[in-house]
Amino acid sequence: MLSFDEIEHRVSQWMGKKRFKHTLGVVESATQLAKLYNVDVEKARLAALLHDCAKEMPLKDMQALVEASKYEADDELLANGNLLHGLAGMIRAEKEFSITDLEVLEAIRVHTTGKVHMSKLDKVIFLADYIEPNRDFPGVDELRRLAEQDLDKAVLLGFDNTINHLIKQHLSIYPLTILGRNDVLQSCK
Ligand SMILES: [Fe+2]
Ligand SMILES: [Fe+2]
Repeated sequence: MLSFDEIEHRVSQWMGKKRFKHTLGVVESATQLAKLYNVDVEKARLAALLHDCAKEMPLKDMQALVEASKYEADDELLANGNLLHGLAGMIRAEKEFSITDLEVLEAIRVHTTGKVHMSKLDKVIFLADYIEPNRDFPGVDELRRLAEQDLDKAVLLGFDNTINHLIKQHLSIYPLTILGRNDVLQSCK
């Protein structure tokens, strides 16, 4: 298997400067969250480094990657690169770097949509993607503060922000995102 630095170099060639900076920010935030919540730091760093590795592929290429794989995607996921890049990124990570760690692969897959029964690693990557140092949106500081106090409550706020944003933009909400949100809400009670 390639070293972290070698993978980092390859990943940097698959994306523009801005997204690579974001990726390194996610690695930084995922490292901090992993330490805070007793998650394997090496797994968190690897999943963070790879989470957006397919984000800049044309949608057609993402679809081809998924269709040539053993994995399945529903029509809604297949039609939207904002959703599909998680699964496509997981397949790319598995294919290009022979990553076999199922926890790492799953965290890459679900980093945007979320799902029901997210692992702590899934939550760390989902949240790090939101709060990494380059992120700047209304409410990001509150989310950063909450992320230091309560992982589930912070993930819930992340879901709520996403869903609110989608509603305001009159965009469709992926059903699994709603189920994931309701699931983590239960954990917050
Ligand atoms: Fe992403
Ligand atoms: Fe990202």
